[in-house]
Amino acid sequence: MSRYVIRGGNRLEGTIRVNGSKNAVLALLPACLLSEGTCVLHDVPKLSDVYWMLQVLKHLGADVDMRGSVVTVEGKGITQNEVPNSLACRIRASNLVLGPMIARCGWGKVAYPGGCSIGSRPMDEHLRGLKQLGASLTEKHGFIEGSAKQLTGNEIYLDFPSVGATENLMMAAVLAQGNTLIHNAAREPEVVELQNFLCAMGAKIKGAGTSGIAVEGVRSLGGAEHRVIPDRIEAGTFLTIAAATRSDVVVSNVILEHVEAVVAKLREFGTKLNIYENNEIRVRQTKRLRGVDCKTMPYPGFPTDMQAPFMTLMSLADGVGVMSETVFENRFKHVDELARMGANIRVEGRAAVVKGVKSLSGACVMASDLRAGAALVAAGLAAEGITEIDGVHYIDRGYEALDHRLREIGGDIVRI
Ligand code: UD1
Repeated sequence: MSRYVIRGGNRLEGTIRVNGSKNAVLALLPACLLSEGTCVLHDVPKLSDVYWMLQVLKHLGADVDMRGSVVTVEGKGITQNEVPNSLACRIRASNLVLGPMIARCGWGKVAYPGGCSIGSRPMDEHLRGLKQLGASLTEKHGFIEGSAKQLTGNEIYLDFPSVGATENLMMAAVLAQGNTLIHNAAREPEVVELQNFLCAMGAKIKGAGTSGIAVEGVRSLGGAEHRVIPDRIEAGTFLTIAAATRSDVVVSNVILEHVEAVVAKLREFGTKLNIYENNEIRVRQTKRLRGVDCKTMPYPGFPTDMQAPFMTLMSLADGVGVMSETVFENRFKHVDELARMGANIRVEGRAAVVKGVKSLSGACVMASDLRAGAALVAAGLAAEGITEIDGVHYIDRGYEALDHRLREIGGDIVRI
């Protein structure tokens, strides 16, 4: 069990590079199961979630290799069709292998997935869509089992633009017979990334990035080589840390379009930002921020994954701000921990009223999930005194060597 020990108050200076996107990789890896060829992914971050997804693929019989940030997957030898509970409980995204397995092998079985505890995360949208593509599904003993001799294209309306459901259905539909239309699809950049990768493998898909995705089924897919997009949530986290600590930091390897909502909100807070054409954003913060309201929404709205880190900013701002969480129902577990550090936050249902304080003070706190952990790191770096954060394994799910990278720009943070 590791913990971070942070001595707050340092002004950070220098350049920090954003790694490849965790959520993109967690969809691209299951997509590799659709092909018997060789798939190569570049700029894959070393994260525990990625490690567990690779274990899932290995368990299913794929040949998997990770050297540095390059991952190679050969899907020829898929022999297993079942993801056991011991693997599925490690990551929520393990459910993304169901669509590809039914499409490629005609049968698949996954234990109900685990992941961060941020509210109930049902799979009804995934399952309804798979049924509409012709799969027979049974849910028993904590497993979901699906089969179909041949999936058939259909018109699917999602009740909510779920990222995972959109991805699962795209992957199932690429090998279905005929055409599929997914309406009210998620528009997240990771969905566009999946489309690009699948098309490089030989799929015929259009429309990702809009709410309507059209898939024309093909008989088989080949291998592909692909560079993963930068992680927009990691970029947003670094910008937030720089603003919270009133620092001078350049965040590099950012796709500007992917962080527009976050940048717009940071500007509303009064963050001084320069945007450069070479995919860099510089934060030069000297003054205290002002409190503003914020509401999480599916993309291109403000991302729910940035809600917790932004609560740290709101806690330090001058004035009152309201954070409304509309995507997940139980994503305010970081509030009690920020309160231990002196934050003034009142939760009312799915909204949190944050009254800014002049400074936070170091304390012993617990990361209850990945982004809550990032919020506490930002708070610890900005606070007076020493903060100890338990539950670092949550942070490892989504940030590679965070302590090391923050130390390189002057953060006083060590892992014990
Ligand atoms: C993905 C991201 C996660 C991000 C989330 C929302 C990955 C690996 N994870 O998670 O970081 O926070 O998108 O941007 O990409 N829902 C249903 N039924 C379903 C599916 C979802 O009701 O079948 C609900 C969920 O409970 C939640 C909302 O839809 O309230 C959003 O979930 P979804 O977009 O599916 O998130 P994930 O794909 O799990």
